[in-house]
Amino acid sequence: MIKAVRGTRDLLPPDTALWNFVEDTVREVFRVYNFQEIRTPIFEATELFARGVGEETDIVAKEMFTWEDRARTWMDQLAGFEEAVKRARQDHSLDNVKLYEEFFAPSSYKGQSLTLRPENTAGIVRAYIEHKMWDRGLNKFFSIGPMFRRERPQKGRYRQFYQIDAEVIGPPSSGSESPARDAEILELVATLLDRVGIKGWTLQLNSVGCANDRVKFNEALRKALEPVVGKMCADCQRRAVTNPLRVFDCKVPEDQPIIEKLPRISQFLDEGCRKHFEEVQAILKVVGVPYIINDRLVRGLDYYTRTAFEFTHGALGAQNAILGGGRYDGLSEALGGPAAPGIGFAIGEDRLVLSLAATAESVIRKPDVYIAPLGAGMNGEAARLARELRRHNLVVELGDEAFRLKKSFEAADKIGARYILIVGENEVKADAFALKHLASGEQVTVPRGELAERIAKEH
Ligand code: HAM
Repeated sequence: MIKAVRGTRDLLPPDTALWNFVEDTVREVFRVYNFQEIRTPIFEATELFARGVGEETDIVAKEMFTWEDRARTWMDQLAGFEEAVKRARQDHSLDNVKLYEEFFAPSSYKGQSLTLRPENTAGIVRAYIEHKMWDRGLNKFFSIGPMFRRERPQKGRYRQFYQIDAEVIGPPSSGSESPARDAEILELVATLLDRVGIKGWTLQLNSVGCANDRVKFNEALRKALEPVVGKMCADCQRRAVTNPLRVFDCKVPEDQPIIEKLPRISQFLDEGCRKHFEEVQAILKVVGVPYIINDRLVRGLDYYTRTAFEFTHGALGAQNAILGGGRYDGLSEALGGPAAPGIGFAIGEDRLVLSLAATAESVIRKPDVYIAPLGAGMNGEAARLARELRRHNLVVELGDEAFRLKKSFEAADKIGARYILIVGENEVKADAFALKHLASGEQVTVPRGELAERIAKEH
């Protein structure tokens, strides 16, 4: 038997109803905050993530699905060339220069390193630069789709998972740097989690400063690490040299007491970063979004500056971050674009759905009515009725005239339909149908024209 690849999974009904409920709700919330959808490719040039997310992060160093996109072989190239000659002959457009170019086009023989996107911020910022979207002022994007990371699979952690991503980005003149944007994003997340029905979340907040602070902090961190790094894991020993901030990503239990004693970035914020962070907090207090400061939170991606945050949920166990995000004021420039401060977040949709699973029942809309055609020649009449009722937005399941009445009742029961509607010869003649409420057993005869209203009543 061929099975789904380790770390990937099928999303099946009824769970998919929960996924749709989440996505519908999220889209509604994004609409009122004036966010617009963006869809970028699920694979990109590897270099984008190496430069954007950072070579030293776990994501880039260990977890990416990367492949060398094969150059065309000489045989492929020859076949393509032959095809081009044939086409040119047919259209009487034999042009030697064009054919020469076709044969030697560099794109046809050079390979390229490609990567399945492990996250979407880098891709969205690439699109922002590529399409010169600074002309539009402040951009507010959202995006929903799959991401790929080669992590060790466990509950809440998959190799293909889904993110609901939001990014606010624009030139500094559009106000993209303002703490008001940070607070708005955080308030949006709080609203979103409340609207989908997640209870008991915690917002963990920190500021990871700017490039300015990072120099001083790295220096202090290196100094503090020097005497202890020999006792730490191999990854930390490497990080201490290449990118000391990443030591805070370490999950090795034995290293934690050492990390606990290291200096914190919050002690190194310059005046501008400190003020920015204070302003974000002041607005959160006014709008009533509760948070806790977690000065160990540095987030596992290199592009973050200033505000960094995670929303966690107790019910998730070890993988307790439902979402994470922060500001990335230098990312556009790191990717060769203009200054374009930005802030965003990505919800792990798999984890959001997991924390919602307890309330799953309530979001699934069961069929309103099961139509049971009774006896030969009734399938058509039943289909006609189904068509009429579905036009009224009722959820209708249609049986088969080959079923005996008992089997139809069992089928209606199994799918949890509220009503069963019998379509037999007598009913068709009278143009009125036997409608039975399955829970109470109450049965009435209802004329065709009143059926939809009658069935809809009990919503
Ligand atoms: P991240 O923290 O790497 O941030 O991922 C965001 C969320 O995606 C996590 O909090 C988690 O819920 C979910 N997630 C990550 N890896 C997995 C996995 N293997 N299986 C299931 N869920 C997972 C980012 O990706 C940033 N791009 C967020 C961002 C947007 N920052 C600014 N803008």
